Parts: sequence; C-alpha cells; structure tokens
Amino acid sequence: MTQRDRSGRVVMVTGGAHGIGRGIAQAFARSGASVVIADRREREAERTAEEIEADTGAEILPIGVDVRDAASVEAMVARAAAELRQIDVLVNNAGIYPNTLVVDMTEDEWDAVFDTNVKGMFLVSRAVAQRMIERGAGGRIVNISSGAAESGRVGAAHYCASKAAVNMFTRVLALELASHDIVVNAVGPGLIEVPDWSLSDEYVSALVSSNPLGRMGQPEDVARAVLYLASPEATYITGTTLYVDGGSLAGRPLPPSG
Ligand SMILES: NC(=O)c1ccc[n+]([C@@H]2O[C@H](COP(=O)([O-])OP(=O)(O)OC[C@H]3O[C@@H](n4cnc5c(N)ncnc54)[C@H](O)[C@@H]3O)[C@@H](O)[C@H]2O)c1
Repeated sequence: MTQRDRSGRVVMVTGGAHGIGRGIAQAFARSGASVVIADRREREAERTAEEIEADTGAEILPIGVDVRDAASVEAMVARAAAELRQIDVLVNNAGIYPNTLVVDMTEDEWDAVFDTNVKGMFLVSRAVAQRMIERGAGGRIVNISSGAAESGRVGAAHYCASKAAVNMFTRVLALELASHDIVVNAVGPGLIEVPDWSLSDEYVSALVSSNPLGRMGQPEDVARAVLYLASPEATYITGTTLYVDGGSLAGRPLPPSG
C-alpha cells in the first residue's frame, strides 16, 4: 500500500525508468511527492516504480509512453491527470545519444534523435502545459539539456544540435507560460554515470581527465538541481539553463602558462 504524498505535489518524469530520470524520480519521491514514471520501456518503468515505492513509501505511477508519438503522449498525460488529479511539475528527461560521424550518419538516426530529444519535449510540454493553464495553479517545467548544447562533440552533431534546440525551446516556453505562473528552466548535465551506457572507456577517461573536479557526476547531482528549480526557493528563475557538469564548460584545467 502506498502512502499519499506529504507535499501534495505530483511530478511527471519522462524517461524515468533508468539513469538520470530514475535518480530524479527517486529524489522527488524521497521529498514526499507522488511521481509519474513515463517511459518507453514499460516493464522497466514498473520495476523502477516498485523499487522506489519500497524505498520511499511514495505513490509512484508507471506509464508506458513513446514521447515521439502525439497520441501516446496525450493518452499518458490524460491517464496521469485522471489518476493523480493534477501535474505540478514536469521533468522532460527522455533522450537518446547515439554516436556516429556526420559522414556515416543515416537520416533515420538523425530523425530519431530530434524526434525524441526535441519533438518529444514539445509534445509532452504541450499536453501538460494545457492542463496546468486550465487548472490555473501555476507549475514548473524542467527540461534536461546537456553540456553538449554549448560544447561540440565528435560523433554527436545530431545530439549537440538537439540539445541547443532544447535550450532555445526552454526560453520561448518560459516566455509563453510566464503569465500563467508556470516557470520553465533547463538543467544541462555534463558526464553523468548511468548503468549500461554506450560510451567507450577511452572517451569516458578522456572526459574525466579534462574535468575541473576530476570526476563523473552521478544522477543525484542532476536531481538536486532539478529539485531546486522545482522548489519554492526558485520562483523568480525562468528561461535559464543550469549546468551541472563539474565545471566542464568553464574551460580546461591546464597548469599556468607562464
Ligand atoms: N548520462 C549523461 O552523461 C548525460 C549527460 C548530459 C545529458 N544527458 C541527458 O539526460 C537524459 C537522460 O539520459 P540518461 O543518460 O539517463 O539515459 P538513459 O538511456 O539511461 O535513460 C533514458 C530513458 O529515456 C527513455 N526513453 C528513450 N526514448 C524514449 C521515448 N521515445 N519515449 C519515452 N521514453 C524514452 C529510455 O527508455 C530510458 O529509460 C537525456 O535527455 C540525456 O540526453 C545525459
């Protein structure tokens, strides 16, 4: 049996079954919110929901969805709103990051990245924002961007371009929803350790050695920033991107040149 949320807030996390999204879902559940885990991998979403419920006692609703598909998104958001009455916070986290050089990239791979990382964010934001506006109680939207929005990466032209698009989508959505007291921000993770990722050991160790803090981040590092932007401490922040990257975008930690 699940315990009703203490905060009364309902948080939706897309891609919440695994990796960073799972860490965000867990952190909100620990803070007392009810959480919708909306993920394409429905079985994994159910397993994750059971584990987080057992750990936190919070109310977790797993729902299968493909964020690239408008009908699937509409059905998912309608079900979440019907079962949990409202959505106070949306975290657009679902994303993919394949690696291929532009000269070898298929059109399908380019489309898959933009359909998931950009169109999916638009479809879920539209469906949730419509309900937030209708309810008239404000809301929070946090989009998961990436340091790749600012710093190019070989083999990730589609991904870097998609995350730059996420940052601009975040700004425009913030402008459009401000009068409804809905604030919209992005969190841009640097290298964050998640299970089963497809990054090579060579790539990971090169990135870690050039990181000012000398380590990879963990999903909890990202979750803390997301929780802050969704908290009452952050009511006057909208349209911005907060990077959680151990200082990667600040520059290279080289010795003094003189
Ligand atoms: N891990 C990193 O180093 C890192 C760094 C910067 C940004 N990010 C971003 O963080 C987010 C999460 O990345 P992650 O590393 O946790 O990845 P992950 O692969 O571990 O988790 C992504 C989740 O999204 C789900 N998903 C994928 N496509 C979907 C779709 N069409 N519909 C619904 N769900 C879908 C997957 O099933 C999976 O559970 C992504 O937006 C990614 O771009 C990750």
